Amino acid sequence: MRTILKNFCGFGMAALMVLSMPAFAQQKALYERLGGKGAITAVVDEFVARVAADAKINRYFAAAAGDPARLASFKGKLVDQICAASGGPCTYAGKNMKDAHAGMGITGAEFDALVGDLVGALDKFKVPEKEKGELLGGLGPMKTDIVTRK
Ligand code: HEM
Repeated sequence: MRTILKNFCGFGMAALMVLSMPAFAQQKALYERLGGKGAITAVVDEFVARVAADAKINRYFAAAAGDPARLASFKGKLVDQICAASGGPCTYAGKNMKDAHAGMGITGAEFDALVGDLVGALDKFKVPEKEKGELLGGLGPMKTDIVTRK
């Protein structure tokens, strides 16, 4: 009797745990939580505007900023990259981060400045800390491919 009761309790506890898990297990993809492609596009527009106004790094983007087609292509790649990396229905067809930034001589401080501009854009759209952290956490590992100068 004790064993039956114990087994039942074990089963009951397990069932209870499974039933109370959905909020955790069924969490939506970061892409959905960010607000989908429209929200990501708005963040990228703001981010690129901030980069263009950022004296620490905007010289890198002079060619893109001066050519509307090139700027649109660059923004589109950023949107696709964020959309795909956050679990959205996009395909990033641009270069890998090492090839895209090869020969630019980007420093760690410049990388941090660009991330700061992205944080500014995410804050402007009130992206919550959790989602902001997940997105930035995905970019951190790219630093070693992008930074090539001290
Ligand atoms: C996590 C950080 C970064 C991400 C995710 C990122 C992403 C990208 C992407 C997706 C492209 C387009 C690649 C292609 O054309 O196929 C690109 C290009 C470029 N990136 Fe970055 N990048 C980062 C950091 C930086 C930094 C720190 C700089 C300079 C300070 C920089 C400067 C550039 C420039 C100049 C281009 C070429 C733009 C053009 O003229 O078309 N990037 N980047």
